[in-house]
Amino acid sequence: MSVRKVGVRGIGAYTPPKVVTNFDLEKIVETSDEWIFTRTGIRERRIAEPDMATSDLSYMASKIALDSANLTPGDLDLIIVATVTPDMFFPATACILQDKLGATCPGFDLSAGCSGLIYALSVGAQFIANGMYDNILVVGGETLSKIIDWQDRSTCVLFGDAASAVILGPLDTGGFRSFVLGADGGGGKLLELPAGGSRLPASYETISQRLHFIKMNGRDVFKFAVRVMEEASLEAIDKAGLTLKDIDLFIPHQANIRIIESAAERLNVPKDKFFVNLDRYGNTSSASVGLALYEAFLEGKIQKSSKILMVGFGAGLTWGACVLEW
Ligand code: ACO
Repeated sequence: MSVRKVGVRGIGAYTPPKVVTNFDLEKIVETSDEWIFTRTGIRERRIAEPDMATSDLSYMASKIALDSANLTPGDLDLIIVATVTPDMFFPATACILQDKLGATCPGFDLSAGCSGLIYALSVGAQFIANGMYDNILVVGGETLSKIIDWQDRSTCVLFGDAASAVILGPLDTGGFRSFVLGADGGGGKLLELPAGGSRLPASYETISQRLHFIKMNGRDVFKFAVRVMEEASLEAIDKAGLTLKDIDLFIPHQANIRIIESAAERLNVPKDKFFVNLDRYGNTSSASVGLALYEAFLEGKIQKSSKILMVGFGAGLTWGACVLEW
């Protein structure tokens, strides 16, 4: 079987209009703009309205991506949605999105925490590389505001809602040059949503104990993140046959500016080569890397032949990195 090159044909992102600033959060929990900004780099985040679900944000991002690829929903061969906040357990958010778009292709969801988009891109790329499909919509969509404990100041200040969408297709030159995926299930307890699944089905107890919200050991996730950002980046660059100097732009998962700065220092790469927009959106999990890629593209930071490293980490624990030649 011949292997085809796979690249990005179109890209889009969508964030809900409602802006929630650090000052707004001061009114909800015992916190301050100064604490949030100095510890995380976040100034504000977007929050979906109560009637907006992940598929709604994903639909908006997908329309933009389809337009930029000059494709219609009927051209799609597959939809993959990376999310930890699906509309519901089933049907898959990818199937709900397929219906909203008016597409007819298969679709499925993928759960890899904040590494979700990179995992999903790697999965989609295989279908195109082996010739099974031509046009694949990969979405990272989250409404994290729905699973945040708004009484827990250690987590509620960190997250936001967004969706990003990438259309993958075959290319003659360029495209993805490497993927690196990793997981350490032993660290899963550091970042989890304990109840609502088959281990702890919803009950009065799980609700009263607030077990349907994100629980996180921030310090340990921080240490893990700094380590894997460096290791996964170096591995992906090496696998692509490149060196750090060849990378034009680093698109890291947007969780915390201190994590990004530590990774830049450990890699000995100037900080301005790392794209950052977490000040405006916070951590949007699966949506984050695609939202950053989209904004970097709109800002003219990506040109033809640019070599881009994307790297993320998240619940699982998981991590992923890839090198993309635009
Ligand atoms: N406002 C004010 N004070 C706070 C707040 C807040 N919002 N949150 C915590 N504090 C307090 C703590 O109670 C603690 O007080 P104490 O010293 O009296 O106990 C103090 O601030 C310091 O808390 P730390 O947890 O040590 O703060 P740290 O500097 O580690 O920053 C943070 C916390 C921002 C969560 C950091 O650890 C972090 O970013 N970790 C990584 C998290 C992350 O990236 N998660 C996403 C993973 S991806 C995914 O899949 C979702």
